[in-house]
Amino acid sequence: MPIINSEMGPIGVFDSGYGGLTILEGIRKRLPQYSYIYLGDNARAPYGTRSFDVVYEFTLQAVKKLFSFGCPLIILGCNTASAKALRTIQQQYLPLHAPDRRVLGVIRPTVEAIGSISSTRHIGVLATEGTIKSESYKLEIEKLYPDSTIVGQACPMWVSLVENSEFNRPGADYFVKDSLEKLLSQDPLIDTIILGCTHFPLLLDKINQQLNNLTTSLNREAGGRAPIQVISQGEYIATSLEDYLKRHPEINQRLIQDGTCQYFTSESPTKFRECASLFLNEDITAQHVALA
Ligand code: DGL
Repeated sequence: MPIINSEMGPIGVFDSGYGGLTILEGIRKRLPQYSYIYLGDNARAPYGTRSFDVVYEFTLQAVKKLFSFGCPLIILGCNTASAKALRTIQQQYLPLHAPDRRVLGVIRPTVEAIGSISSTRHIGVLATEGTIKSESYKLEIEKLYPDSTIVGQACPMWVSLVENSEFNRPGADYFVKDSLEKLLSQDPLIDTIILGCTHFPLLLDKINQQLNNLTTSLNREAGGRAPIQVISQGEYIATSLEDYLKRHPEINQRLIQDGTCQYFTSESPTKFRECASLFLNEDITAQHVALA
């Protein structure tokens, strides 16, 4: 178990499973000097089809656990948790129970980055059913860019493909193509697709390949349109966090800077180690943690 210290601590990164590793990777690339704790609730993933109440309850349990490990700052590296639990944690839990600690999400920083990426302002969002139904992306994008047209498509199978290490096998192609077709049929003018689920960058090769096939058949290039850009969140969350820490020295000075990273899972540490090592391209070890 990590040393608990009420003053100094690591940055906590939480996800329902492996997806938040894509966020952690982006953050560690840009901010390698900090100490990190990753927590995956793999035993209860996926969160995407769960109700608001359940996602809130599970996310709060994870936040409390990371606080007990001494984290002064937690990133919810999960869009579903950011959409369904972040606001209530920030507005109701923190002021009463942990006023000196911070919890941040991944939706707002992604939306802020979109402004410099999309030129048509026709934006597609691929995410879990929970994130799409919450309309969090649509509402946040419309707040910043009122002239936008936003369409969303839930991809019910994609998280399971990733959690079960099926993401680079041929069977995944069908599900990737199916969801992309459904998204593009809602708005053929889309120039930017946000991967609004942290699991989805693991499917990026397949997404680009299928998108290329689909847009070629739609003859988009002949129409003079630029290729569709697919946005993974990792680098944008990292830039946004760097900026946040510059603006909040009172949090920054409480973060341990020793370049270490520890991994915790509510599932089997052996299983987590095997899968996470695959995603991260490095050998890691993990420890079990009970969430309740
Ligand atoms: N990786 C998560 C997200 O960004 C959640 C996936 C899930 O557990 O359904 O939405």
